[in-house]
Amino acid sequence: MEAKTPKESLTVLTDLVLPGDTNYLDNLFGGELLARMDRACSIAARRHSRGIVVTASVNHVAFNKAVPMGSVVTIEAKVSRAFKSSMEIYVDVWIEDRQSRSRTKVNEGIYTFVAVDEIGKPVIVPQITPETDLEKKRFEGALRRKQLSLVLAGKLKPTEATALKALFN
Ligand SMILES: CC(C)(COP(=O)(O)OP(=O)(O)OC[C@H]1O[C@@H](n2cnc3c(N)ncnc32)[C@H](O)[C@@H]1OP(=O)(O)O)[C@@H](O)C(=O)NCCC(=O)NCCS
Repeated sequence: MEAKTPKESLTVLTDLVLPGDTNYLDNLFGGELLARMDRACSIAARRHSRGIVVTASVNHVAFNKAVPMGSVVTIEAKVSRAFKSSMEIYVDVWIEDRQSRSRTKVNEGIYTFVAVDEIGKPVIVPQITPETDLEKKRFEGALRRKQLSLVLAGKLKPTEATALKALFN
């Protein structure tokens, strides 16, 4: 199976924050943003694997800045690394200034998707060849994050998390 680049999975979703999407402070509700991020990641994983994909884990989300009502929100998702059947997807969230259209990064997340067949059994996905410095950095850290996620899910013994242990040696 031929390796692919992260940019081949790039998914960009741009949408508005409307009153029904907000919390008591008139900022975007966290769960609404998570759902939008999940959708963008799902499309990126599908573009990479060309198959059926399911969310296996939300590894990390940072709500760094509030997103006010009326904002134009752009969500960019790309596969950062592929393992056997699983893929790590990095998702960056930006809002844009109405006048200058300059962008401010407000949030980011890291999701794990798994490619599955029609009965939900995991299937092999193409590998990833990172190109830019940022893609290479994200690729390098992905095994550590996968092992941490598996340890937290009780699917891997901490003693077997070799990439995590290497951080402390
Ligand atoms: C995700 C799912 C397919 C994994 O199935 P499984 O029986 O655990 O299969 P495996 O143990 O072979 O794991 C498959 C891959 O997922 C990875 N994985 C499973 N759980 C993970 C987790 N919590 N974090 C990171 N990776 C995980 C495994 O490491 C493996 O990766 P690899 O093939 O690249 O090495 C299965 O748990 C599932 O269908 N979950 C429900 C998904 C869903 O409905 N999502 C929508 C949320 S409502």
